[in-house]
Amino acid sequence: MRDAAPQTIYLKDYTPFGYLIDGVELTFRLHPTATRVISRIRFRPNPDATDHRFFLHGEGLTLISAAIDGQTVTPDRTDTGLTCPVPDAPFVWEAEVEISPSTNTALEGLYMSNGMYCTQCEAEGFRNITYYPDRPDVMAPFSVRIEGDEKILLSNGNPGNSGTGFAEWHDPWPKPAYLFALVAGDLVNHPDTFTTRSGKKVELNIWVRPGDEGKCAFGMQALRDSMTWDEEVYGREYDLDIFNIVAVDDFNMGAMENKGLNIFNSSAVLASPETSTDTNFERIEAIIAHEYFHNWTGNRITCRDWFQLCLKEGLTVYRDSQFTSDMRSAPVKRISDVIALRARQFREDNGPLAHPVRPDSFVEINNFYTATVYEKGAELIGILKTLVGDNAYAKALDLYFNRHDGEACTIEDWLQAFEDATGRDLSQFKRWYEQAGTPRLSVADDFKDGTYTLNFEQKTPATPGQDIKDARVIPIAVGLIGPNGDEVHETTVLEMTGARQSFRFDGLSAKPIPSILRGFSAPVILEREITNAERAFLLAHDTDPFNKWEAGLSLARDGLIAMIHDGAAPDSAYLDAVQTMARDDSLDPAFRALALGLPSQDDLAQALYDQGHTPDPQAIWEALETLRHAKAQAMQDLAPRLYAQYQVTGPYQPNAEQSGARSLANAALAMITRLDGGAQAQRQYDNASNMTQQLAAWSCLLQAGKGEAATAAFYDQWQHDRLVIDKWFMLQILNADPAKTADTAARLTKHPDFTMKNPNRFRSTLGGLTASSAGFHHASGKGYELLANWLIRLDPLNPQTTARMCSAFETWKRYDSDRQVHIKAQLERILDTPSLSRDTTEMVTRILA
Ligand code: PHE
Ligand code: ZN
Repeated sequence: MRDAAPQTIYLKDYTPFGYLIDGVELTFRLHPTATRVISRIRFRPNPDATDHRFFLHGEGLTLISAAIDGQTVTPDRTDTGLTCPVPDAPFVWEAEVEISPSTNTALEGLYMSNGMYCTQCEAEGFRNITYYPDRPDVMAPFSVRIEGDEKILLSNGNPGNSGTGFAEWHDPWPKPAYLFALVAGDLVNHPDTFTTRSGKKVELNIWVRPGDEGKCAFGMQALRDSMTWDEEVYGREYDLDIFNIVAVDDFNMGAMENKGLNIFNSSAVLASPETSTDTNFERIEAIIAHEYFHNWTGNRITCRDWFQLCLKEGLTVYRDSQFTSDMRSAPVKRISDVIALRARQFREDNGPLAHPVRPDSFVEINNFYTATVYEKGAELIGILKTLVGDNAYAKALDLYFNRHDGEACTIEDWLQAFEDATGRDLSQFKRWYEQAGTPRLSVADDFKDGTYTLNFEQKTPATPGQDIKDARVIPIAVGLIGPNGDEVHETTVLEMTGARQSFRFDGLSAKPIPSILRGFSAPVILEREITNAERAFLLAHDTDPFNKWEAGLSLARDGLIAMIHDGAAPDSAYLDAVQTMARDDSLDPAFRALALGLPSQDDLAQALYDQGHTPDPQAIWEALETLRHAKAQAMQDLAPRLYAQYQVTGPYQPNAEQSGARSLANAALAMITRLDGGAQAQRQYDNASNMTQQLAAWSCLLQAGKGEAATAAFYDQWQHDRLVIDKWFMLQILNADPAKTADTAARLTKHPDFTMKNPNRFRSTLGGLTASSAGFHHASGKGYELLANWLIRLDPLNPQTTARMCSAFETWKRYDSDRQVHIKAQLERILDTPSLSRDTTEMVTRILA
């Protein structure tokens, strides 16, 4: 019982809307099941448009009345909107509609979360609020009046009149409907102020439910830091009298950059040492920055259409990663970003969901808020900056901001600003936006008469709908290290433009060891012939922190592959090299903690698959366990020393220095636990005064099979705190033995605190299942079945979150035929569900294709 195939939308079909909007006035009469939305919109014909059909989007709305220039009209309505004859001159559209926020479980449009009203309009949620041209290229100033009994009534822009039962807001900056927001609830605030560098005083607030006030200080500081940073680094000031952030418990994504009224998943803003880990703090700081930076890259300059999503997202992710690098450790941030990029984006790029950073078609835009658009989009900004240089980058950004302020733009506009600012032809660079797939960059070298040559070749495998790939411009940062460990050629960026290209280095007295793709200068897969001895040498001597880390990781990866595939023993070269690295107190502890890490199960599965093997998830898990054990033994003297040395004394601070020390000490604790059975972890658990220490200790206990008491104690201690209980759900699943992962997840879905209506809780439970590779891919198929059961249940309530989680199945073609049969059966079962959403239908169809 499948519905007719949903419609595909193409970039090439873009046409401007037939009308411009001079002003929007909205009145909301709030009611949980019968909110009235009264709109008054001033339209005028768009002189740049050829198509003057008047179509307003609108879904799930009860139309009460409509009028044009004061005359009642009866529009032609469909499931997706309405149309009616309009004058060939400026006119006023008025409508009143009724909606029911309390029954809106999709969390798109106006909905309720814990008794509070809030909105989510990106990408196409405004059409669930009223009839409107819900497309990003239609921009207008909004005036909003909210009528309701709630204490706090918020919308975009600056506050206007307010009194008992109402508040008015005016946003002078023209914006598309996706940036509209409204919040109403009995909220409390954490206030502050900020003075911009031109002397404008801005009121800042973080609004939360009563009881959460104590968890706002860190987010507020992150906001102030972001505001200062954007002034100093990009010359961008804030442009309203007030900036509000609201924390919401039920939210599909991390946060949303609505103009002047950012709405955050409470997990992305609330922080305290007792309830948040160091990782949580760093993520919160980055998300606050990300949403704030959107005020310029996204709001002042927005996207012409949703194909251009990377215009705002890639650039804003790039900006927030620059911010984190400046606030914390740049190398550690780069390594963490690449770990995430490979885990999510490379995985996507190498499977059935691969798509260009700027897609050219979609069925449901919500399915394109992907790692490719965001994270690969950010990598492309990095490539561009490397190619043109820092000064030209700054010049091009100024030009972009000056030229396009107040406009809805395309990637072409973005690239044009760079071409005009630098005189450079970027047509080859543009392929990065248009071609999906991760380039494989292979390299061979050669040394003769003092000349060292690197011969590169690039190839990108076919992706869905794109068989042929053209060569891209790849900046390859290279340094050379002499046999004695000294750097003999400092980092230089080789610009590869051909499919095959060689680069020469003259005047060398001996064959060097190359350090290639320093800082991960492009998102490619580097394939090189290199011995373990050379890798150990790079781990010891490379001056580039990224490649130093990469050398250790690839040494570990090759050793693990040999263990999995050839039954080899743990590689002593790796164990020796990593121990030497870990001992080196001149290295940042955070770096050492990262360099002690191993490739993920999923990385290993992909690596095995790329080498022509069928990955066995259980064998991968076992090899990782064996290697972790061997490492613990090899470091049985070092680990306790590191553990003691890096204990943090003094009050908790979520800064880079303290969190680096804690991460190294906790990496040591994991090794200690393998040998002492959990004694030290239990001591840490009992004495923990912050969540980082408590959670690390509890994880160790769970892995050692000694977690029962702590699991019960943890629940008792934190049952009142939703965000901590999310961790309680997730960690039990992540640390389960693979044979029990699905059973643990299934058991937890029966816990009274489990609810599929809260995306955070759903993701901590079912997302815990899918993140546990060997458990999810258990040969019985029970992991697949459990996930499919829940996706089928969630889809009618929340299609967006359901569809996103389907990507757990995207790697299915890697596995053996038994697993493929299991997965295919589950995907088909999902697809055969009556009234399956367009979101989930598109995802499952693409995965199966
Ligand atoms: N635009 C948001 C961001 O990246 C993400 C988002 C998309 C949130 C869609 C909600 C819905 O910051
Ligand atoms: Zn964003």
